[in-house]
Amino acid sequence: MSLNRRALLGSLGGAAALAAFRSDALARIADAGKAVAGKPAPAVAGDEAYWAEIARAFDVDRTLINLNNGGCSPAPAHVMEAMIRDLRFSNEIPVYHMWTVLEPRIESCRRELAAEFGCDPEEMAITRNASESLETLIMGIDLKAGDEVVYTTQNYPRMITSWEQRARREGIVVKPITFPVPPQSGGDVVAKFRAAITPRTRVFEVTHITNLTGQILPVRDIVRLGREHGIETYVDGAHAFAQFPFKRDDLECDYYATSLHKWLFAPIGTGFLYVRKAKQKSIWPLMAAPPKMDEDIRKYEEIGTHPAANHNAIAVAIAFHRGIGAERKAARLRLLRDRWAKRLAAADPRFRVLTPLNDTESCGIGLIHSEGLDTEKLQAHLWDKHRIMTTPIVHPEFNGLRITPNVYTTLDEVDAFSDRMERLMKTGLPA
Ligand SMILES: Cc1ncc(COP(=O)(O)O)c(C=O)c1O
Repeated sequence: MSLNRRALLGSLGGAAALAAFRSDALARIADAGKAVAGKPAPAVAGDEAYWAEIARAFDVDRTLINLNNGGCSPAPAHVMEAMIRDLRFSNEIPVYHMWTVLEPRIESCRRELAAEFGCDPEEMAITRNASESLETLIMGIDLKAGDEVVYTTQNYPRMITSWEQRARREGIVVKPITFPVPPQSGGDVVAKFRAAITPRTRVFEVTHITNLTGQILPVRDIVRLGREHGIETYVDGAHAFAQFPFKRDDLECDYYATSLHKWLFAPIGTGFLYVRKAKQKSIWPLMAAPPKMDEDIRKYEEIGTHPAANHNAIAVAIAFHRGIGAERKAARLRLLRDRWAKRLAAADPRFRVLTPLNDTESCGIGLIHSEGLDTEKLQAHLWDKHRIMTTPIVHPEFNGLRITPNVYTTLDEVDAFSDRMERLMKTGLPA
């Protein structure tokens, strides 16, 4: 048991108290929320007493500093417990408890996710991750040899691989475009999409926020551009949903894919796929469904036997997310981002933050290039010697460490990372 965990148990009066806290997590968050009621989100962002309460919902080992929450986030302890409870219940008699009792409750998750995203529940499919959602879109659209697809070289590699496989298999044409980090402007990215359009362009794929630098892209303008030219725009929102507030109508999109084990803090193996009602007939599911399901969003959930527990716990994660509030969460993530990024950028010109540090173009994710320090060796050193987890981003066009704190991350943890980075910039990495 870690020192901090032990201290926490002690301060709460032992394991029984900790268990009570967990089942009580939402009530405690509501109490913490009352204490800051009426305060604007940026003011709450710096209220350490409030965030200490939020952090207590997570079973965090404070001997490790996790600054890669973007890859996959831990879920709060009570979200895990709801899932484990349902797994045990399923295991008693799966064909009844899992299929008959628990599986139908996916409809509550659909309803709540649809409310969060701002669409009709009949447009919301629950999947296992953003990859599954995006593969459904990429493989599900009818395309002929010579049809063109435009995406950026900063799209997620699995999706690029999927389009490239369709190119090899069916002769579609992929047209990757590049943009600098950070881009000159959102308008510049839109202009690059516009310049790539030909009479054969059928699909745009754009990331809402890139996993590489945390850049938020002008999705609505790209969707509008596509629509003007009869082009479908697939939005990869793997990192965007529940990291910062927005609704479907802000984006005007017809398709949206995300994971929920990143920023919603739902259990690992949860995601969603939104497809506007009018588009559902033309996108085939990955696993076959009968014709009567052609316009039923549930055709994208025809995946065979799977645990109901994981997706049902999405409802608990949504309640936790709402308990904090999307605005407060985004404000806190931006405060943490600025704390390390602005400090390091000011400390030494050899640090270059490749993420724009403002409220519209990024949120909790930041990428820092450290001139003279090899990115992969730096990441390995921080983890091996200091137990600080970061993400090495090595892209043909740029490289650096991606830093993604979480709502449970303390200021001390962020500062420990910055201290170490400043020191390494002075001394270099040990041979
Ligand atoms: C932009 C982007 N798209 C898609 C994915 C795939 O997400 P998952 O592995 O959860 O399917 C990721 C994962 O990091 C991502 O960053």
